[in-house]
Formats: sequence, C-alpha cells, structure tokens
Amino acid sequence: MRHLNLGPDLSLPLTEVIGQCVAILGIRGSGKSNTAGVIFEELLAARYPLSIVDIDGEYFGLKEKYEVLVVGAGENVDIELDVDAAPGVAELSLREGVPVILDVSDMLAEERELFVLEYLTRIWSLAGKIRKPYMIGIEECHEFIPQGVRTDLKEVIARIALRGRKRGLGAVIISQRSAKVEKDVLTQAGMLFLHRVVHEVDMRVYSELLPWPKAEVKEQVTGLGVGECIYLSGQSIRKVKIRPRKTFHGGFTPSFKPVETPKLRQVRGEILAAIHKFKEEKDGAGDGELQLKLEKLEAELALKEARIRDLERRLRERHTPLPPPAPPAPEPPLEDPVPPAFDLPPEVLRKVERLLRRLGRLPIHERRLVAFLASREPRSYTTAELAAWADCAEATLLAEPPTELVEMGLLSCERLARGITYRAQLKAFVNRAFSGFLPELGPEGCHQLVCYLRGRLCQLSALERDFSRIA
Ligand SMILES: Nc1ncnc2c1ncn2[C@@H]1O[C@H](COP(=O)(O)OP(=O)(O)OP(=O)(O)O)[C@@H](O)[C@H]1O
Ligand SMILES: [Mg+2]
Repeated sequence: MRHLNLGPDLSLPLTEVIGQCVAILGIRGSGKSNTAGVIFEELLAARYPLSIVDIDGEYFGLKEKYEVLVVGAGENVDIELDVDAAPGVAELSLREGVPVILDVSDMLAEERELFVLEYLTRIWSLAGKIRKPYMIGIEECHEFIPQGVRTDLKEVIARIALRGRKRGLGAVIISQRSAKVEKDVLTQAGMLFLHRVVHEVDMRVYSELLPWPKAEVKEQVTGLGVGECIYLSGQSIRKVKIRPRKTFHGGFTPSFKPVETPKLRQVRGEILAAIHKFKEEKDGAGDGELQLKLEKLEAELALKEARIRDLERRLRERHTPLPPPAPPAPEPPLEDPVPPAFDLPPEVLRKVERLLRRLGRLPIHERRLVAFLASREPRSYTTAELAAWADCAEATLLAEPPTELVEMGLLSCERLARGITYRAQLKAFVNRAFSGFLPELGPEGCHQLVCYLRGRLCQLSALERDFSRIA
C-alpha cells in the first residue's frame, strides 16, 4: 500500500488521508508551511489531485518536481486568471486530476475572497457527482474561516472540512493564529500537526485539542524545535520531526547563503491550451453580461465616491473652524497624454494593467495622491500641500496614510522639518517590480516604461473627474 513519508518516524498510509481534515498550527517560523509542503509533495508523488490556496505565493516551488498549474495573480503564475475563470479551472482540476495552485498573493482582499469562493463552490458541487479523492490546501486559513464571523466562503470551506469525506474531499488547513480559526473546524479535524506556540490563547486552543493536562501541554509544546510537532490522529499521539521539503520552499527564512533559483517543470502544453481556450470562450460569450455587471458596479461606485467626497468635505469643514490660510496657488494640472507604449513587451504591459487594476481599487484619496505625485516626480509634498493641491483632505491623509502605496514602493514617505512628506519613486519602483524584465528592456525600454507608467498613473485621477460629473 502507498505511504506518505512525512519524516523519519512518520509514514502514513495514503488511504488515511482520503477525505480527511488535516490541521497544521503553530507560530511564525515553526515549520507549518514546510509540513504542508511535505504533505503536498507526497500527495503529488502519489498522483493525488489537489488544489492549494496560496496567499503568499510560496508553493510554486512544487513545480520543481511535479506538474502543477499555478493560476491567479502573483509573480509566478502560469496563467493570470480572474474570478470569472475560477469555476472552469476548478472543474478542469477535479475532472482531469490536474493539481492547481491558486496564487492569490497579488489580489486585494475582496477579489481574493470572491476568487476562492467561486473556485471552491464549484469543487464542492462537482465533487458530489464525481466522488473521487481530492485535497484542498488552505494557507493562513484564519483569513478565510475566522472564528465568530459568517461569510459564504467560510461556509463552503467548513462544509468541505466537516462534510467533504463522503465526496472524497479532504482539506489541509494551515494557520499561525489557532485561536482565530473557526473552532468547529479545528475540533473536527481528524489529523493534527501541532507545531510550537507560545501565547496563552494558543496554548488554550491546544489544551482543548490534546488529551493532556494543561501543564503537560505547555511543557511539551514549548519544547518543540523548528519542524517538530505533536502529531495527533485517532488514538495516535506523539512528537514527530517532519522532513524538510525536497522542492523549493518559497517561504524559507532568508539567510546570507545564496538561494538557487528553482528549475520549474513546465505545465503540459495541452493543459495551458485548454485553459486559454476556455478563457477566450468565457471572454467572448459573456460580453453582454459582463457589461451589465460593469455598469452596475460603476453606478454603485459613483454613488459611494459622491458620498466619500461629501464626508471628506464635511470633515474638512469640521476641522477648520477658521478659514484656512490661502494655500499656495495651485499649479496647473499636468495633462500629459500617456506616451505610447511603443514596443514594450506584452508581458510588461499585462503587468502594468494588473498594477493599475490593483490601484484602481484603492480609496479615492490614495488614487488622487499617486496621480498627483507621479506627475510631479521627483518633488516631495507635505500633507498640507497635498491637501491643497491634490484635493486630499489632510485629516484623511493623516488618519489613513497611503501605507499600501508606500509598501509597494510607488511612494516614499519622509518625516522632514516641514512635516510628513510624500513623493513618487517610479524609477526605483520599476527597477524592483519589473526586475525580471530589465535585461530584455535595456536602459531605453526601462525609461520608456517609466514614462508610460507615469502617464497611466496620472489618469487614475481622471476616473474621479468623471465621477464628480455624475455626482
Ligand atoms: N522540518 C524542517 N526541517 C528543516 N527546516 C525546516 C523544517 N521546517 C521548517 N524549516 C525551516 O524553517 C523555516 C520556517 O519554516 P516555515 O516557512 O515552514 O514556517 P511557518 O511556520 O510556515 O512560518 P510562517 O508562519 O511565517 O509562514 C524555513 O526556512 C524552513 O525551511
Ligand atoms: Mg508559512
């Protein structure tokens, strides 16, 4: 009988994991993702089909040895997909047994939730008809099945974890926040890998899961090293050491040793072709439906934008009882047309579009900010100046600083004598975010990309002008 070799002293019959709910818990760096990676490696070696919801884009290294399709939005995807394509890929994966990694690392929370919901809903309904062994892995599952909150996504994951067995569905759920994961799911998990925890709240969760007195739980658990855990399944309960992953672990703890770039296996051409075909059909067939959806969302957005402007105005008035000192005369807006993209490679343009989609979902004041600063690079502006020139309420800027834009490296923030200042950093951003394309682009292409990006970013506030007409 086929066994999963998870460590020197842990070998499980494959049949034991069919339809099983496996929970892997522990603090950051305790070895959870490695343990999950080892389970996935062994399942893939046994040709057991699976899907992994990968929130940090760290499982693509499985492609070093196994044929796995990576889809979604992230650095290492084989095909970039949005929510409309999710059910189709789920169906392909389950029917054809194609292992899939859903890389949702570049999606914003709302899009990510919808994407995973559509995907897992299709898996659930189809598994009822197909009934063959299939595993779903979910990283950082407290994000998807939080304790005490009800969402559609949580419901479908809980259904898979608690009632999937009869359909052949199993789940591997991974979390560093044991206390934040839905209790019903944890207590029903048939197999547990409990890595080290230290906080009292997590220790309490472990005490509920382990049949030991509290003091013993604490003693055993605090003594666990990286990669060690308490393994619990049925009557079996013991301390085990999980083996390191054989394939590249994208979530490894960085050290000063050089890291070798993994050599990834290419996904078979016909699988990619099937998805491309399916994507094209979807894009073509549903144009009318998509247009309607778009119009509805745009109308909702316009209403919300109008409301935000109104609230911002009221907030500004409340915080400025005296008429403010006359702001410096506004500089005329720079209405540079977007420079043509000339011959920027299509993958670069796709990446720009993806970035713009992401930015398009930011709050309006952040969009205005990035549009304004991009047009004025390299000048830096204080929040007061931005309030005057970029029409961003200063109170809003202070209460909701553009953290995401700074983390992405598009803006930099400095505290100077004249106050907190922001400025755009497009060249540095391009050098970092498009590093893989730089050799191909050369200095000329890189300059062109910066100009093109600047033009597109400046348009982010044009969107707002349209809304102000509606409002
Ligand atoms: N069984 C093991 N043997 C050897 N090294 C391991 C083992 N488990 C984990 N490591 C190493 O320890 C580091 C942290 O492991 P891992 O990324 O799996 O932790 P994690 O619990 O998932 O952390 P996080 O919560 O931050 O995602 C990695 O560099 C990994 O290679
Ligand atoms: Mg991890």
